[in-house]
Amino acid sequence: MTLLERPLSESYRETSPIVLETKRLTLRAPRLKDAKTVAMLANDRRIAENTARIPHPYKLSDAEGFLARANTAGGETAFLITLRDGTVIGSCGLMALEGQPPELGYWLGVDHWGKGYATEAVHAVIDHAFTDLDCDALQAGARVTNPGSRRVLEKCGFQWTGVGLYRIRALASSAPIDRFRLDRGIWHSLKTWGRARKLS
Ligand SMILES: CC(C)(COP(=O)(O)OP(=O)(O)OC[C@H]1O[C@@H](n2cnc3c(N)ncnc32)[C@H](O)[C@@H]1OP(=O)(O)O)[C@@H](O)C(=O)NCCC(=O)NCCS
Repeated sequence: MTLLERPLSESYRETSPIVLETKRLTLRAPRLKDAKTVAMLANDRRIAENTARIPHPYKLSDAEGFLARANTAGGETAFLITLRDGTVIGSCGLMALEGQPPELGYWLGVDHWGKGYATEAVHAVIDHAFTDLDCDALQAGARVTNPGSRRVLEKCGFQWTGVGLYRIRALASSAPIDRFRLDRGIWHSLKTWGRARKLS
């Protein structure tokens, strides 16, 4: 049974031991008391219109719903992205999909864009997915009008697989997206190559 399938009680979720550390960031399980901060950060049209499920405006009740569903059986394995001082700056997660690789999603509060944080957080979640969750592949999508997100995926080794349509909740319509995939073999090669480069 993978972590994605494991039923988690509220008390387990609130105290989930899974914490991912990067050079500048800590990724930890969301807690219900994060709702106000999440609502404040996510309530921006530039975030909502580039993600499938974030509504706009994004109310406290939306954040509470997201936090209540996070890390429940069959739902999203979600992390809050925090700076080392504990400041929450965004979220990154994996949505379990029936018969398909989990789908990676992420967003950051606008004040935190352009500092390499998304790439750093996504790298950590990818490593977690392949090492701890035993995933064989991951998928992701980025709106064709979102070169920043596309770049994050490419920097993390994702490969373009084609185009598609996303239902964007904040737009109440669908929008064209580029689709990406990262297979375990590519991830492993990139990690090996990265380690070899560090040693040389
Ligand atoms: C997409 C998002 C997560 C990026 O976060 P970020 O921390 O700024 O990303 P990073 O700094 O790690 O990397 C962004 C890269 O995109 C590049 N980029 C940003 N805007 C760009 C643009 N308009 N055109 C081309 N490249 C762009 C940056 O230069 C950087 O690449 P580089 O390191 O090679 O210079 C953030 O903008 C966001 O939350 N957007 C709204 C939600 C969203 O789009 N989520 C993804 C949906 S799947």
